[in-house]
Amino acid sequence: MHRLQDRVAVITGAGSGIGLATARRFAEEGAKVVCVDVDEEAGTKVAAEVGGIFVDADVTDADAVERMYLTAFETYGSVDIAFNNAGISPPDDDSILETGIDAWRRVQEVNLTSVYLCCKAVIPYMRRQGKGSIINTASFVAVMGSATSQISYTASKGGVLAMSRELGVQFAREGIRVNALCPGPVNTPLLQELFAKDPERAQRRLVHIPVGRFAEASEIAAAVAFLASDDASFITGAEFLVDGGISGAYVTPL
Ligand SMILES: NC(=O)c1ccc[n+]([C@@H]2O[C@H](COP(=O)([O-])OP(=O)(O)OC[C@H]3O[C@@H](n4cnc5c(N)ncnc54)[C@H](O)[C@@H]3O)[C@@H](O)[C@H]2O)c1
Repeated sequence: MHRLQDRVAVITGAGSGIGLATARRFAEEGAKVVCVDVDEEAGTKVAAEVGGIFVDADVTDADAVERMYLTAFETYGSVDIAFNNAGISPPDDDSILETGIDAWRRVQEVNLTSVYLCCKAVIPYMRRQGKGSIINTASFVAVMGSATSQISYTASKGGVLAMSRELGVQFAREGIRVNALCPGPVNTPLLQELFAKDPERAQRRLVHIPVGRFAEASEIAAAVAFLASDDASFITGAEFLVDGGISGAYVTPL
């Protein structure tokens, strides 16, 4: 499929996980990919692999965010797709009873303020073009609660979800679509390592997933490519769950 032929896509957090898989998928579908990350080595590597460019930018820095879209525009002539995906989930963000204000603020900055900065900077390009697709990475924890809490992470993703909905509504008649992607848990190296050490911890989560496994990053990337493409032309302001059925489940199959 070449649904994104010659579209210019900026991906934050492109160096790893969902961002990396999406950079690959976007390139397969014909897009020109601008890979943004704070990890220079990983970002340079993915940009070379997908034939795009790397921009070293911290998405919590307003000037750096402005610069990354300007670089995309000056290099390729438009900014058609913004996948605002960079995020963190550090171990010191835990139960509200344990989580300190510094951990709370750091997670809010990287996961939520960054999405505000990215949308604020990219929407003017899209308004001038009269088209654009923005996909902001939220999470399934934006729509359901967990007893294994990461309080600032969850609150940040709820913020991403509400902000995406509002922007989707506000700019709907200007050809700009804004959707919140809500992935379920993804089979990342970090998750594998954690659960290999502690199978009970993995089981506690797996029991809630109707399909009985975690997602592969490529499955999330497939959903992002759909939302980015004209196949999703009537989808905006959506809470787009890609969660193996978790959010709809009560009793899962044995
Ligand atoms: N992995 C999951 O199970 C899962 C589930 C739901 C939602 N998500 C969300 O998906 C997104 C991607 O997660 P992932 O698992 O691929 O993570 P990951 O850690 O594999 O990749 C995140 C990338 O973002 C980069 N990054 C971190 N802070 C940055 C900053 N300030 N500026 C620029 N780049 C920065 C990192 O260097 C890294 O390359 C995150 O927003 C995460 O919250 C992940």
